[in-house]
Amino acid sequence: MQEGENMNRKFRKSLGQKELERIVTEHSNSISLHDKYGNILLNFLGVKVSNLVGLNAKDLSNEYDWSPSQKAVQTRSPVTGVVGTKYGRKQIVNATPLLDEKGDISLVVVTALDKELIDRYKEVLNKDNSLEESYKITIDYLSESNFSDNAIIAESPEMVKVLKTSKTVAKTDSTVMLIGESGTGKEVIARYIHRNSLRANQPFIPVNCAAIPQELMESEFFGYVKGAFTGANAQGKAGLFEIAHNGTLFLDEIAELPLSMQSKLLRVLETGEIKRLGDNKTKKVNVRLIAATNRDLKAMIDQKQFRSDLYFRLNVVPITLPSLRSRPDDILPLAYSILKELNLKYGLNKKFTNQAIEAFFEYSWPGNVRELRNVIERMVVTSVGDDLYLEDSLLDKVSVPNNNSAISENKETIYKGTLKSVLAEVEKDYIKQVLKQCGGKVSEAAKILGIHRSVLYRKMEKYSL
Ligand SMILES: Nc1ncnc2c1ncn2[C@@H]1O[C@H](COP(=O)(O)OP(=O)(O)O)[C@@H](O)[C@H]1O
Ligand SMILES: [Mg+2]
Repeated sequence: MQEGENMNRKFRKSLGQKELERIVTEHSNSISLHDKYGNILLNFLGVKVSNLVGLNAKDLSNEYDWSPSQKAVQTRSPVTGVVGTKYGRKQIVNATPLLDEKGDISLVVVTALDKELIDRYKEVLNKDNSLEESYKITIDYLSESNFSDNAIIAESPEMVKVLKTSKTVAKTDSTVMLIGESGTGKEVIARYIHRNSLRANQPFIPVNCAAIPQELMESEFFGYVKGAFTGANAQGKAGLFEIAHNGTLFLDEIAELPLSMQSKLLRVLETGEIKRLGDNKTKKVNVRLIAATNRDLKAMIDQKQFRSDLYFRLNVVPITLPSLRSRPDDILPLAYSILKELNLKYGLNKKFTNQAIEAFFEYSWPGNVRELRNVIERMVVTSVGDDLYLEDSLLDKVSVPNNNSAISENKETIYKGTLKSVLAEVEKDYIKQVLKQCGGKVSEAAKILGIHRSVLYRKMEKYSL
């Protein structure tokens, strides 16, 4: 106990406000700080500061069946246990009192993890003995539970309509096809559909078809039995369809599936059965599919690059995500929400200048919301004071007058910032140039660049190309 108190004291001293914020925003499902009377001082749910602050643990007695925080105060020692919520969910909660120099309780730190997550984690661990899959599910579950519905910004009538359609279709088991430019929020909507579906408590498995090497595709999708091929995992491995059983499989960049895989996928959709590589038995799988693409699949059908029968199977409910430039009403709400999140994350108080706001409306946002987020993140980390101006490289593309003299003086310099940021800029420009040269054909560009197609895709995503 004595040692524990010393640890607590040391721990508290060594943590700055910013670090504390980072820990709670990046690493846990939910964490809150209570005082010894049970008053909630601070509460984070993922990146969102929830509105529990100001309440007392007693006010929550209708929400939870017991309070580890109160128990921790009574016993003056850490308490861990399963707490049921009014909605029937279960959380594994730990409440640890932090003691001050006099040995009084100065704070109680309460962390809560969804019990289902832990159970699912254990289940997968036991079943398949395949760590990789359980990590995938765990990480996904964590990131998903941190992204609640009200983190989706939809002010424009276009996006309001998209959300409404998505919610309606979520309750059915229909296959959904999300169509839209890169960065418009296809994955955001796919998760939203899953969260609002009857499968919400089952896994949501996102798969980027462009990122899986062709030679591994079949084993990734359908799995394999032990000894199926050399280099295979000794125990065999479940494929994505098995992992997503009873849940939702999100097939992103569906246009990148090679024709041979398209046929195999179609067969699974028709029969509802999969066969692991090297197996002679089939297995029934119950999976809801959501597909997404930024390509014109009809044109690909004409060019015999996409199977029309698969297209019709997937295109049951098409939902089109409008580009950001076609829904300007969303720009500022998105920008402010992103800025708020970053200010919170880094403990900053940055503000947009009028120059930046005007420029936001002038710019065409080819990389849509993802680009908006990247631009704001760069503005935040590279700005010196609290005022945020649009970066020079974008200013050149819009007609907003540049009235920030500090920036104007620097106009002569081509490169600015750390070596890392300059190298990133050069990398982005060169990739752009090569892509243009190849008419947008990623495999060709990857060859010229001397990197793998999947690596190139990741870089394109990073730079909103
Ligand atoms: N309506 C929205 N509200 C809040 N954030 C959004 C919204 N749409 C997209 N984003 C953010 O933009 C980025 C790109 O979204 P994503 O769904 O991955 O796009 P896509 O899959 O269409 O390329 C993500 O960081 C996502 O959180
Ligand atoms: Mg995406």
